[in-house]
Amino acid sequence: MSDKVAKLSLDGKTYDLPVHKPTVGPDVLDIRKLYGEADVFTYDPGFTSTAACESAITYIDGDKGELLYRGYPIEQLAEKSTHLEVCYLLLYGELPTASQLADFTNRVTNHTMVHEQMHYFFRGFRRDAHPMATMVGVVGAMAAFYHDSTDITDPWQREVAAIRMIAKLPTIASMAYKYSVGQPFVYPKNSLSYSGNFLHMCFAVPAEDYVVNPVLEKAMDRIMMLHADHEQNASTSTVRLAGSSGANPFACIAAGIACLWGPAHGGANQACLEMLKEIGTVDRIPEYIAKAKDKNSGFRLMGFGHRVYKNFDPRAKVMKESADEVLGLLGVENNPLLQVAKELERIALEDEYFVSKKLYPNVDFYSGIILEAMGFPTSMFTPIFAISRTVGWISQWKEMIADPTQKIGRPRQLYIGPTTRDYVDLRHR
Ligand code: CMC
Repeated sequence: MSDKVAKLSLDGKTYDLPVHKPTVGPDVLDIRKLYGEADVFTYDPGFTSTAACESAITYIDGDKGELLYRGYPIEQLAEKSTHLEVCYLLLYGELPTASQLADFTNRVTNHTMVHEQMHYFFRGFRRDAHPMATMVGVVGAMAAFYHDSTDITDPWQREVAAIRMIAKLPTIASMAYKYSVGQPFVYPKNSLSYSGNFLHMCFAVPAEDYVVNPVLEKAMDRIMMLHADHEQNASTSTVRLAGSSGANPFACIAAGIACLWGPAHGGANQACLEMLKEIGTVDRIPEYIAKAKDKNSGFRLMGFGHRVYKNFDPRAKVMKESADEVLGLLGVENNPLLQVAKELERIALEDEYFVSKKLYPNVDFYSGIILEAMGFPTSMFTPIFAISRTVGWISQWKEMIADPTQKIGRPRQLYIGPTTRDYVDLRHR
C-alpha cells in the first residue's frame, strides 16, 4: 500500500480511502470500510472501475495492447513456449526447469482418461446438443466422479483437482464432439503432446490411422496459449464468485464454462465466423459496417471491441499470423472467409465510428477461421476456448482459496423497488 490517501467528502464529513499501489497499472482506492464508516455503497454495474481481488497472475495494459502472464509478454510465449509450459507458469508463478516440466507433463498425461462411467453419462445427452451444453453438465458432474479432489481445504486435493481438469477438459470436449457427430469416443494417447492429443481425439477414427500434422498441432497449441488467462474477465470472475462460497472446484469451472458460452465473451468466436459467413463476399462489407454503427439494429461486429483493450488485442495479431500460416499450409490461403475478415478489418480500422470508440479486432476475430480450416465445426470453437482457459480459471481459483483475505463475494445493490407495503388478500386484488 502507498502512503497516499484519497478523501471522500459526503454530507459535511470527510472519509479517508487508502490507496493501493500495484506493481504496474493504475492506483486502486480501498473502499472496504466505506459502508461501515459512511453508510454508503459504491455503484459500478459491469465492474468498469472496480477491482474485486488482488492477483499476481496476469496483467493487461489495454491502452498499450499488452498482455503479460506472470510478467512474460504473450507474444514471446506464443512464439517460444508450449501450452503445458504456460500452464505451469500460470499455476506456479515461474517458468519450469526441464525436470519440473517433465514431471508436470507426466502428471497431466497420467490424468487424461476420464472415468469409464462418464461414457455412459454422455449417452444421456441428445446427439444434437451444443458441445458447450454438454461440457457445462459433464464438467460439473466431475464432482460426482472424483470425490477425492473436492475438499477445498486440503491443498493436495486442490492440486489434484487442478491437474485433473487441465488433463481431462480436452478429453471431455473431444467426447462432446465425437458424440455430436455419431462417432466412437477416441481414448487419449499419452505419447502425443497436449494439443496433438486433442486433435487426435477429435479427428482419429478406429477404422484408419490419423497422423497429427505438426503445423496444425503448433497452431492449436498457440490458440491454447493465447486463451490461457485474461485476468478478471466475466468467466474468471464467475469462477471466483462461485468458489468464494466454498463450492467444489469442478462446480466452479462448470460455472466458468457456462459464463464463457455467451456471445459477448467466449461465444464470440462462433458468432464471428457465422457473421463472416453471412457477409460472404467483400462487396457486402459496407452494409454490415453500417448495421454495426446503427444502434437500432442490435447488431455488433463480432470479434471487435473489448472492455479492456483500447488498442489492438495482442492475441489477435498472433492469431492473424497463425491464420495465414495454417491456411497457407492447407493450400486455402484464398479462403473467402479470410479475405472477408481482412477486408472487414481494414475498413473498420479506418472508419470514424470504430476509430473514435477504439474498437479493434479481438482474439476471436481470426481464431474461428483457423479452427474451421482445421476441420472443426463452429459449435466446437467455444469448447476449445474453454479447454484453453481452464488453466487460467483454476490458477485464479487456487490463488483465491489460498488468499487469507478471501471472503464470500457478495455485491450490494442500488435498490429501486417498492418500499414496505402490506400483503393484499387474493380476493381484494
Ligand atoms: N460493434 C459495434 N459497436 C460496438 C462494438 C462492436 N463489436 N463493441 C462496442 N461497440 C460500441 C458500443 O455500441 C458502445 O457505443 P456507445 O458508446 O455509442 O454506446 C461502445 O462501443 C462501447 O461499447 P460497450 O458495450 O459499452 O463496451 P463493453 O466494454 O461493455 O463491451 C464487448 C465489450 C467485448 C462486450 C463489446 O465490444 C462487444 O460486444 N464486442 C463483440 C463481441 C466480442 O467480440 N466479444 C469477444 C471479446 S474478446 C474474447 C473474450 O475475452 O471473451
